[in-house]
Amino acid sequence: MKLLQIDSSITGGDSISRSLTAAIVAKLVAADPAATVTKRDLAAAPLPHLELAAYPGGESEAALASTAVLEEFLDADIVVIGAPMYNFTFPSQLKAWLDRVIVAGRTFRHGPNGVEGLIPGKRVIIAVSRGNFYGPGAVGDGLEHLQTLLAGVFGFIGVTPDFIVAEGVRAGPDHLAAALATANQAITRLAA
Ligand SMILES: Cc1cc2nc3c(=O)[nH]c(=O)nc-3n(C[C@H](O)[C@H](O)[C@H](O)COP(=O)(O)O)c2cc1C
Repeated sequence: MKLLQIDSSITGGDSISRSLTAAIVAKLVAADPAATVTKRDLAAAPLPHLELAAYPGGESEAALASTAVLEEFLDADIVVIGAPMYNFTFPSQLKAWLDRVIVAGRTFRHGPNGVEGLIPGKRVIIAVSRGNFYGPGAVGDGLEHLQTLLAGVFGFIGVTPDFIVAEGVRAGPDHLAAALATANQAITRLAA
């Protein structure tokens, strides 16, 4: 089994999403010790904004680098993604990665019945961490553009991600403890 771990938090050792991706990967590896883990840290090694010359499939150095990112995604059996909320969505570092992965003809196509995702069957687990609450009537009601966008983007290519969510982590110590407990319980319930 090939695991790909993508982290995008900029908060280093304090990162909650990184602690969750690490726990998810540890659980999956415990269940399959022969699994290989490839790590891509988008904060330590950011991908540049996508430009036309860097579009996957081209021949330029930048395009070949983008294709390598795409192939790394395609090659993985399970992809674990850390998605912190910064200003109501995921970091631009993660957007730059998605720009290499959502590619016409490789991960989706325009078929006779409209858009078809080409990646059914890939398992994607996304660890979300956000400071406030986003349910109906909550402070962030209507501003949740992280989980909704990732669910839509992956759905577009045929993937239904599992989300592990720590919400309200900046709303005080009790909320932080509750959010971490909820997220870690959800990790223990993940299928191996
Ligand atoms: C630059 C920055 C922007 C943030 N913006 C938001 C936000 O828009 N909404 C929110 O609920 N929390 C926000 N937060 C809080 C983070 O979502 C929270 O600290 C979360 O744990 C970040 O994930 P990380 O710990 O893996 O970095 C922000 C934090 C930072 C550092």
